[in-house]
Amino acid sequence: MAFIEFRDIHKYFGEAHVLKGINLDIEEGEFVTLLGPSGCGKSTLLRCFSGLESVTEGEIYLAGTNITNFSPKQRKISMVFQQYSLFPNMTVGQNVAFGLQMQKKKKNYIQEKVKETLDIVGLSEKIDQYPREFVRRTAAACRPGASDHRRAQSAAP
Ligand SMILES: Nc1ncnc2c1ncn2[C@@H]1O[C@H](COP(=O)(O)OP(=O)(O)OP(=O)(O)O)[C@@H](O)[C@H]1O
Ligand SMILES: [Mg+2]
Repeated sequence: MAFIEFRDIHKYFGEAHVLKGINLDIEEGEFVTLLGPSGCGKSTLLRCFSGLESVTEGEIYLAGTNITNFSPKQRKISMVFQQYSLFPNMTVGQNVAFGLQMQKKKKNYIQEKVKETLDIVGLSEKIDQYPREFVRRTAAACRPGASDHRRAQSAAP
């Protein structure tokens, strides 16, 4: 069994049949890109995976567990949205720390994780700066990077 499995996924929005029997196996650590014209359902599939949308039909497995009916919280999957949803009044470091603070992690742990994640993407020097255009995408990507969640990156909101 693959690490992530989409089995015959269908999604309707009213009459619109947006996902038409998607079957996809993804191995752990694999880097996968969904490529297709605007409106073909890339974001919808990711939203179904993270639990922000329900599937109409089909099943999704993660590490051998059927997560089709799990809430987003139960799935522990992080998603970076096309609109980065960074807080403009918070520094890069505070933005990256936010998810961990919400999870009530210890202060030392948060500091360590934020530093480690910003180091990886070469943004350590920006930790006290406010997110401007040139760091927005990277800072947004660091938030799930610092979390213990699994990650899914959306090409669109
Ligand atoms: N909540 C919704 N209600 C109704 N229709 C929706 C909803 N979300 C998406 N759709 C429709 O589903 C289809 C697929 O949308 P989706 O956003 O998944 O496409 P996409 O492949 O991500 O496109 P893009 O490349 O523009 O980001 C579109 O026709 C869209 O209008
Ligand atoms: Mg999209």
